Amino acid sequence: GSTRLKPLKSPIQEGKLSVIERSKQLAAWTAVDEHVLPEYRVIGIGSGSTVPYVVERIVSQGAEANKDRVFIPTGFQSKELIVSSGLSLGDVDQYPTIDVTLDGADEVDTQLNCIKGGGACHLREKVLAEAATTFILVADYRKNVEYLGTNFKAGVPIEVVPFAYAKVLQNLHQVLNSPKATLRMAVAKAGPVVSDNGNFIIDAPFDVERMKEPYKIMAQIKMLTGVVEVGLFCHMARAAYFGNQDGSVTAKW
Ligand code: 5RP
Repeated sequence: GSTRLKPLKSPIQEGKLSVIERSKQLAAWTAVDEHVLPEYRVIGIGSGSTVPYVVERIVSQGAEANKDRVFIPTGFQSKELIVSSGLSLGDVDQYPTIDVTLDGADEVDTQLNCIKGGGACHLREKVLAEAATTFILVADYRKNVEYLGTNFKAGVPIEVVPFAYAKVLQNLHQVLNSPKATLRMAVAKAGPVVSDNGNFIIDAPFDVERMKEPYKIMAQIKMLTGVVEVGLFCHMARAAYFGNQDGSVTAKW
């Protein structure tokens, strides 16, 4: 289903944030209000530019609410965010069961399938999404689409073992029919982007028709030897929240 929730005021920040930033903030705040319940003790924190607003809202619940909680990061950025916000840091090997994980997305379809990995964190993000009893997505209105690949044209992020990258690229070009698949390069093309796990990232675009069945593409890519994880999350999210330009929030579930 889908519903549009009425505009939520963000009195502190209103007027100071751009429309897109404010949309991210309102989505994140709404998701925290709905899904970070007082009794929750283990909370997964995703990566990207929307997640800081999730942490902002959790911190605003107060020291008392957070004193017995532990927060599990999906990468270097969220680890820094948790620590700098004064929250307790934990690891998924200590806490393999998480009450709720909140994370951003590059695009989300009507079935709540999504593309993730724009920030190269999708392996750890998928582990925390799977470990969580409830997995929630937060994003601005640009990410709310009917079919994946509508606005996000960079392609499906694929984490790959460095030793295998050329072979996987060739497989993508020749077998999986993604001729524009490329190795993701760091700024100024100084070298490949390296994930928190020491691996490379390939971005593989597929046409929108094929993206209508993301599970099929995900399974085909995952079968390639050398692939560690695919940035397609199929049927994992319980709900997604999108901040709109008018200050309302669209909830999809
Ligand atoms: C990182 C991710 C991010 O969650 C995704 O890229 C969305 O980021 P943002 O909130 O900045 O739009 O998957 O790997």
